[in-house]
Amino acid sequence: MMNTIAVIPGDGVGPEVAREATETVTALGLDLTFDVLDHINADTYLETGVAMSEDDLQRVRRAGGVLFGAVGDPRVSSTGYARDILLRLRFEFDLYVNHRPAALLHDRVSPLRDPARRAIDLVVVRENTEGLYLGVGGVLRGGTKDEVAIDEEVNTYLGVSRILDYAFSVARRSVCMVDKSNAVRHGGQLWQRCWCEAVARRPDVETSHLYVDAAAMNLVADPTRFDVVVTNNSYGDILSDLTAQLAGGIGSAASVNLNPETGFALFEPVHGSAPDIAGKGIANPIGALESAALLLDRHGHSGEARALRDAVRRTVAAGRCTPDLGGTLTTAQAGAAIRAELLATG
Ligand code: NAI
Ligand code: MG
Repeated sequence: MMNTIAVIPGDGVGPEVAREATETVTALGLDLTFDVLDHINADTYLETGVAMSEDDLQRVRRAGGVLFGAVGDPRVSSTGYARDILLRLRFEFDLYVNHRPAALLHDRVSPLRDPARRAIDLVVVRENTEGLYLGVGGVLRGGTKDEVAIDEEVNTYLGVSRILDYAFSVARRSVCMVDKSNAVRHGGQLWQRCWCEAVARRPDVETSHLYVDAAAMNLVADPTRFDVVVTNNSYGDILSDLTAQLAGGIGSAASVNLNPETGFALFEPVHGSAPDIAGKGIANPIGALESAALLLDRHGHSGEARALRDAVRRTVAAGRCTPDLGGTLTTAQAGAAIRAELLATG
């Protein structure tokens, strides 16, 4: 795997947290170098009308993966601009898996204070290239009181089968498939058929099925029941914000967008550009750092990845963290505290 990582810091808190991630990886002294594309942002888009150029895409293609901050800016419409960057990269590199782990950082930061409910350690596997977010559909009589707006949900046999197989490939104990096949007829039937086939291929793994409404309830009632939760694009988007909050908040949640066949991957915190706190220096860098840990895993540095996760947990336990986790540190101080822990033990 190529050792150059393209970095797209983006907008808002994106550059603030991405800096902590690249500095931390750099501090490990590994054979990884960064190609920083810090001109991909809303300023450039407002100036040129282009979110990401052909030349940018070439640079990303030459890299072995992408470390991403966040994109989005109050001055531009997300549907045009953010789509052009993040959704474009997902489709361009066929990053059909969105792997979103949730593991409890510390008792104090979860709403679930009952000790028996606190052992959260699960992954939401979200289908990333189909479903409701393709922009298939249209508007009839737009802008009038007779407007009809339709967004169609796309499900393919290939798309559903491959995300289910990925879910089984990362299962430690069990896989729970989540759909709404009692209400969403056609796609629901396809998910059910592919699920039966995938289950038959992996008799060694414990399996279950839940409708998405029941899944939301059960994830809060007893998250310890879950190991891998696999679902479509929109349900995965929503359930992974829920699991992020259970495990310590959106600022700490990590993800990887991945094509398991090519190995190309884009690593990013689950949060967006957080315009409400951007520039204040208080963004939690842990989501970006945990995303960097996923990058280290995939680039053959799983020892360092484990050390980084342990360092993060120790700083949170000591209360050395940003305000969203009950601390008083700035983004840079929190990043530096984690690096100090990491290098002290590493
Ligand atoms: P958001 O994730 O940016 O913010 C939601 C809430 O979480 C805010 O109160 C924010 O202050 C807080 N938060 C987010 N990251 C944090 C961090 N690192 N530390 C502490 N608190 C943090 O979601 P929102 O407000 O819905 O979207 C803002 C912009 O970001 C929009 O333009 C949206 O389109 C974009 N966005 C981009 C994403 C991406 O680049 N992958 C993902 C989600 C949203
Ligand atoms: Mg989301």
